[in-house]
Parts: sequence; structure tokens; C-alpha cells
Amino acid sequence: MTAKKLLILPGDGIGPEVMAQVLRIIDWLAKKRQLSFDVSEGLVGGCSYDKHGVPLTEETMELAQQADAVLLGAVGGPKWDTLPFALKPERGLLRLRKDLKLFANLRPAFVFDALADASSLKTDLVRGLDIMIVRELTGGVYFGEPRGIETLPNGERRGVNTQVYTTSEIVRIAEVAFELARKRGKKVHSVEKANVMESGLLWREEVQKLRDARYPDIALEHMYADNCAMQLVRTPKQFDVIVTDNLFGDLLSDCAAMLTGSLGMLPSASLGAADANGARKALYEPVHGSAPDIAGRDIANPLATLLSFAMMLRYSFDKEEDATLLETAVKAVLDGGMRTGDIMQPGMAKVSTTVMGESILRELDKLI
Ligand code: IPM
Ligand code: MG
Repeated sequence: MTAKKLLILPGDGIGPEVMAQVLRIIDWLAKKRQLSFDVSEGLVGGCSYDKHGVPLTEETMELAQQADAVLLGAVGGPKWDTLPFALKPERGLLRLRKDLKLFANLRPAFVFDALADASSLKTDLVRGLDIMIVRELTGGVYFGEPRGIETLPNGERRGVNTQVYTTSEIVRIAEVAFELARKRGKKVHSVEKANVMESGLLWREEVQKLRDARYPDIALEHMYADNCAMQLVRTPKQFDVIVTDNLFGDLLSDCAAMLTGSLGMLPSASLGAADANGARKALYEPVHGSAPDIAGRDIANPLATLLSFAMMLRYSFDKEEDATLLETAVKAVLDGGMRTGDIMQPGMAKVSTTVMGESILRELDKLI
């Protein structure tokens, strides 16, 4: 069997240092579990701009197209904030999502028992929390046309973006949500602003139609996005699967992520449609950003990236056992009291990025 192709894009800020911990796990899997990948590395974001003048080169895009899965660290930083839109680090990430047609973004928000009191909400509101946000990722206002900034005849400037969704875009993301709900709590909240937006009304109608036709076993509720933001911090455990558009999903997933105590803990997967062989293009990345303020100091939390890699093992490579091993090791290290600064609690041991990575390896050795 030929090894699966894995493209690693560490990106900017803390990206490279958290990714270094994943590379150690990849070595460990090869040595201890006879699981090898054909690993290549590339640049994306500001680092690519610095070297090549663009946030993503054609060569790297081609590598991503050929890869069985892509693992990305993070992109962006103040250094590149003043670049024109098309050259900003974020455009590299957005192009990967768009060109690989990764329309389904899975953002789990779950609370590790050891971290339940790290949440800014009361512990009993979040203990055992397990939400899956399914965010549409290749449509909506992020990509809608027309877009741009123009100067009007009177000298005033006008900025335009377009929120647009078609039936097929809505149906394919809702399918992902209903399928996931079937394996979980059988409940979907579909979130939009049907009270003010036609695209939201269409969203609501199509999701309901799909539920009635093919998923009668799933409880479906429609919720306005503003109410959803409020409900997430009021009674978050009412949610199982939330399906929503690109922009609302961006906002609500940050909100849900923070319920868990730290953005530094949460992984994500972005998946395309299944091809004839059932394989999907896929990109995995932590939900957190590049955190330029703490970059290069070996204090960032590598767990979200490690957990993203675990999602990759599960969804792209069908390595359930190895994914669970890694997740169990993360849990054990947290239970053992180790914390990076972002999740530090009284009485716990504050450790560096590197030591966190080492501790995970030590746990993995114990587990096999
Ligand atoms: C995210 C990020 C991105 C987004 C940025 C970096 C373009 O906030 O993945 O949530 O808005 O989608
Ligand atoms: Mg975001």
C-alpha cells in the first residue's frame, strides 16, 4: 500500500511551533504504530508572501490538490495587515478552502472534564458540553459577487459584499449536518436571519424540506443567528448540531469555542464532497489564529493542532484507533495537571509548547 500524502502548512505566528509537535507525533506513529505518511511541507499566509510575494503559490496549491489531506497551522499577523486584500495572508487560506471545494466546516466545541472550570461560564452550564457546529465554508458573503470598494461620482466611497446561497449549496451542507446528528443527539438547529434576509428565508425553507423528505428522525429547529448567540451563552447544552452559513458560522463558532475555556483546545475539519471512491478533499486546522503576540516563545498551546491531526486520522484515513489514542493521551495529560498558559489554572503545572508535546508522547508510550 502506498503511503497517504499529507501536506503540512505551518503558516504564520505560532503555526510552526505548534506544528512541530504534530511532526513528533507523526514520527511516533511511524515508529510505534507502523503508520507512515508521505509528508511534504509548504508555505501559506504571510510567510509565503514574504518569500514569494503571494499568500499561496500555484505550486503549493497544486501540492494541496494532490494531497490526501492538508494540515494547516494558522495564518496572519499585524505585519501584513496593511497589504491589499488580494495579498493578505487570509487569502491563502480562503483560496485553499475555495479551490479544494471544502464546503463543510466541522467545528466541534467540547469541554474536557479537567477544563470545565476554565470556562468563563459557570461550570455546571458547560460540564459535558458537546456541540458540533457545521459551517458552510465556500459560499455566502465571503465569496459572493459583486464585491469591492468603488468611488461614487460625488466622491463618496461605497463598499459592497453579497450574501448569496443557492438550493444545492444549502442542501449539501444541511445533509452533512443531518448525517452527523444521526450519529449524535439527533437534533439540528438551523441558524440564519430569515426575518431580514431573503437568503436566510431560502435557507430555512430548503433545510426544512430536506428534513421532511429524508431525515424525519432528526428534530429540527430554526433559530435566528442573534438569538443563537444569546442561547449559546445562556444554555449551551440545549444544542447538539448547529448548521449555519459562512459568516454566522464564523461568529458562532468563536463564541461556542470560548465556552470550552480556550480556543487553544479546539480542532476543525473542512471537507469536500465525496468522489467516486468515497474519498473527500480535506483540510484540518485549529480554530485559533496565529497569535502573533506570543509567537516564537514556546508557550502556545499545541493541543488544538494535535486534535486537528486526530480528526484527520479519523475522517481522512479511517484510523479510528490511532485518533482515539491521541485524544486519550491529550485527556490524560490534562487530567495529570499539565497546562499551557492559555488554560492555566491554580495548582496546575504550567508547561511550554515543547514540554506539552513531550508529555503527549510519554502518554502515548504508556497507552500502547
Ligand atoms: C476562521 C477565521 C477565518 C475566517 C479568517 C482567518 C479568514 O476567522 O477560520 O474562522 O473568517 O473564516
Ligand atoms: Mg473565525
